Parts: sequence; structure tokens; C-alpha cells
Amino acid sequence: MHAIHQYQEFFITYLESQTINKKPENLYAPIDYILRLGGKRMRPVLTLMTAEVFNTDYKEALPAAMAVEVFHNFSLVHDDIMDDAPLRRGSQTVHEKWNINTGILSGDAMLILAYQYFEQYEPTVFRDLAKLFSKTALEVCEGQQWDVDFETRKDVTIPEYLKMIEYKTAVLVAAAMKMGAIIAKTSEENANLIYDFGLHLGLAFQLQDDYLDAFGDPETFGKQVGGDIIENKKTYLYLKAVEFSNANQAQQLNDLFENHSNDNTTKIEEVKTIFNQSGAAIATQDAIKEYTFKAFETLEKMNIEPDKKAMLRTFGENLMGREV
Ligand code: IPE
Ligand code: IPE
Ligand code: MG
Ligand code: MG
Ligand code: MG
Repeated sequence: MHAIHQYQEFFITYLESQTINKKPENLYAPIDYILRLGGKRMRPVLTLMTAEVFNTDYKEALPAAMAVEVFHNFSLVHDDIMDDAPLRRGSQTVHEKWNINTGILSGDAMLILAYQYFEQYEPTVFRDLAKLFSKTALEVCEGQQWDVDFETRKDVTIPEYLKMIEYKTAVLVAAAMKMGAIIAKTSEENANLIYDFGLHLGLAFQLQDDYLDAFGDPETFGKQVGGDIIENKKTYLYLKAVEFSNANQAQQLNDLFENHSNDNTTKIEEVKTIFNQSGAAIATQDAIKEYTFKAFETLEKMNIEPDKKAMLRTFGENLMGREV
């Protein structure tokens, strides 16, 4: 095994060795732009780490790690169009820098490009990777559609929200890990346990993404702080605030999310005050811990060496402490 930051370096070296910027320029330049814009590289690191957890050289997992990161970035390009987001990783989003049509087509090409990386594997591994990938990609689309549908619904429940984030975010984290397990040809049981670990980590991850969207530091967060509030997203913060509020506060929150005025700064401030005063901010922090600990419980069931468990645990703990 290597240190977590080393997996990140291995992945970045591989990414940089790939020729992406071909012709036509307006199709490939945005792909090159978004892929080189950085980001935490969490999913590919998990693919590489998981291969090594199951005793296989990380190098064998590089193409799959790339597929996962290209798919993730594709989903961000389209997500930023859907969420009307101006900023990504501290820079302009693709559709802002180019235009919406470019974002759509470059995104489509990225989805195909992601699949192509699996062609480097032998037939049985290829089949298993492609099967998992197709299922996951479709679930991500389903999650994204729910996310958008919820913007205009007033009766979203916590279980519905949890299903939505499982699909839009957690399944890809889980699949990133299971791909490492598939490449390592470990047992079905191990592959399923690591998927479950990734799924719970992914749920915690999206809960924290929602938290940071409201309470992150605008200097370092890299995305528009308050973007979810502007878009009337039914986040855990929002749903818990409604649950914990008295009738007055609940009505105020409802009015703020119904009113499409242009004064977003005031809306964001008022909504954040309710998130804090109602106890929703603390409840969200608690839920992040709860799902991270659920992931750790799965880890305990796995038949792997203690140092490997410790490393996966450290990864989860680092995620809980993240600011971006
Ligand atoms: C952002 O993912 C989209 C979510 C699923 C929350 P990341 O926070 O992993 O984005 P980058 O790749 O590090 O920029
Ligand atoms: C994104 O959720 C999930 C996917 C991209 C599939 P968000 O919309 O919360 O992600 P960010 O906050 O824009 O990164
Ligand atoms: Mg978004
Ligand atoms: Mg979104
Ligand atoms: Mg978000």
C-alpha cells in the first residue's frame, strides 16, 4: 500500500500522460479544461487504493480510475448547467466559459470517453466493469432528475432525499471502489462489502457537500456559496430546518423558497440563520458522522489486514474534516 497522497500523485501523472486536446478544438478544449482544473480526485484514488487493498498493483486500476474521474467530470459539466452554477473549483464553469451547447456536447463526449477506458481490460473484467458502470451511470441520471424535481416540490421527505443522494452521488463512490475490487478479482463478498463501505461514505460525502454549500468559506470552497439556496434545493439542511421549526419559521422558510426575487444575498443570509437557529446545521453534522461511522462498521466485517482497514478509515476521517 502507498500513502493516500501518493495515489493522488499516481493518478495525476497518468491523467497528464493522456492526450485529450484533439480537434475540433471546441469539443475537446472544454474536456481538457475541466479535467485539468483539479479537484480532490477522490473517486480515482479510491479505485487505486481498493485494488491494492485486495493485493493488486494500482497500475492495473489506472484506466478504470480514469474512467470514473472522466465520468464524474462529465456529470459536473451537465450538473453545472442544470444548477445554473457559475463557479467550479474556483474557476468558471464550462458553460460560462464557452456556452451551454458546448457544455452539453463536450459532456456527452466525456461519457463515451469514460467507457472507452474500459476497453483496456480483458473480456471478463471488461464485462463486469462495463456492467457496473452502466448501472451506476443510469442511477446517477435518476438521482439528478429527482434532485431537479424536488426543487419545485414542498413535500419532500428525508427518506426521499436520502434515496436521491444515494443515486446522484453515493453509487459512484461505491462503484469506484468496487471497480478496484473487480480488477483485483477478489471474492464477491469482499466486492459487495467494499461497495457498501463506499455507499455510506458517499452518503456522508453528499451531506457534507450540502453543508459546505451553505456554510463553506467563499475564499476556499471553489463553488458559489449558497448556490443550493438560490436554486431552492431540498437539502438535508432544509428538510431538517422545516422539521425543527415552529410554524412561523417554517412559513418564513417556505416563503423564502417560493419567492423568486433577485435579492439572493438576503435570501441566503435569512435561510442560513434559520438553518442555524432551528438546529438543522447541527443535525446535518450529526448525520455526516452517522453515515461515516456506518461505513466504518462495514469495514469491520471485511476480511483484510488491519493496516488496510486503518487506511480506509483514515480516508473517511479526512473526508469528514474537509473544507472543500
Ligand atoms: C462534487 O464532487 C459533486 C458531488 C457529488 C458533491 P467533488 O466534491 O468530489 O468534486 P471535485 O472533483 O473534488 O471538484
Ligand atoms: C452533484 O450534486 C451530483 C452530481 C454531479 C451527479 P451537487 O449539484 O450538489 O454537486 P455540486 O455541489 O454542484 O458539486
Ligand atoms: Mg451542482
Ligand atoms: Mg446538482
Ligand atoms: Mg452541492
